Amino acid sequence: MDDTHIQALQSRIEGEIAAASTLAELDQVRVAALGKKGAVSALLATLGKMSPEERKLAGPALNGLKNHLNGLIADRNEELKKIELERKLQGEKLDVTLPLMPAPVARGTIHPVSQVIDEITAIFADMGFAIAEGPDIETDYYNFTALNFPEGHPAREMHDTFFFNPDEKGERKVLRTHTSPVQIRTMENQEPPIRIIIPGRTYRCDSDQTHTPMFHQVEGLVIDKSSHIGQLRWVLEEFLKAYFEVDEVSTRFRPHFFPFTEPSMEVDVQCDRSGAEVKIGQGSDWMEILGCGMVHPNVLANSGLDPEIYQGFAWGIGIDRLAMLKYGMPDLRAFFDADQRWLDHYGFRPLDIPTLFGGLSS
Ligand code: DAH
Repeated sequence: MDDTHIQALQSRIEGEIAAASTLAELDQVRVAALGKKGAVSALLATLGKMSPEERKLAGPALNGLKNHLNGLIADRNEELKKIELERKLQGEKLDVTLPLMPAPVARGTIHPVSQVIDEITAIFADMGFAIAEGPDIETDYYNFTALNFPEGHPAREMHDTFFFNPDEKGERKVLRTHTSPVQIRTMENQEPPIRIIIPGRTYRCDSDQTHTPMFHQVEGLVIDKSSHIGQLRWVLEEFLKAYFEVDEVSTRFRPHFFPFTEPSMEVDVQCDRSGAEVKIGQGSDWMEILGCGMVHPNVLANSGLDPEIYQGFAWGIGIDRLAMLKYGMPDLRAFFDADQRWLDHYGFRPLDIPTLFGGLSS
């Protein structure tokens, strides 16, 4: 070992120390030079095998090198720590003049249809109603026959039904055209008294500003031994007042025809159409809002209930239309476009669950 060898080693390691740009790199240089198997440590290990004269010269030179490098490493270590802190501070810089980022929970919103279903549910739950559900893909029997639509009756055509291809038995399933089939399914499985609402998806081959091929209805059904039209009217008026958040509503019941009710009626609600928005519960205009009636004895009998013992009433309302009326949305098709801007505008905050005591839509 001679001086030039030590010199070369020193300048190589000095270069490496200066070039280390992170604390991790610097540590690698330290280990390679001064670690157990490092280049300088290997030279120090040879001291023991040297003659005393050689050792006298090499010992101070090598220990000097070791101390010199240790010093350089410590200095570079300090420098790099400062640089890394500076880099971290730069990365964490906050511009307090930037607009606030919305919290994640505020970014998603509740679709108006879901909101309105929650509102309707809160209102009827408060009156003691339970929720019932049935399948979207229905048999012709539940969608029509059991509901007293005779074979070939024009009312079947009026529903613009989506039919499936016939199965092996020649039977064609349908996408349910209304929520009424769930009346039958419930009466088949439940002993009266029955008090249910049935919110759900319904389908008809129709599309314009106020019609979409998929839409939503909420059906109501009450069956007991003495249910009557007076109760029907009270329930519906209480519902309309609570839903539209007004103190009074007037309703007008007009005779109508549905195969599954007798008598059948359409209900108009008092409103004011003089401004840009329809206002419910004031003014001198009327707007048709739902269909209802006393459950037809054939429907009771088809569901296994004795019409001599039981009677009841039912109604059906379009949920999307209720949403449009309350929240002022002009075009139903936009409900199902999944346009983020529409949802941001008309959506509801997810943590505001509608309750009667907290205010339905506040
Ligand atoms: N199912 C009817 C429709 O879709 C709505 C309806 C009317 C439901 C009267 C009822 C009712 O339960 O009693 O047009």
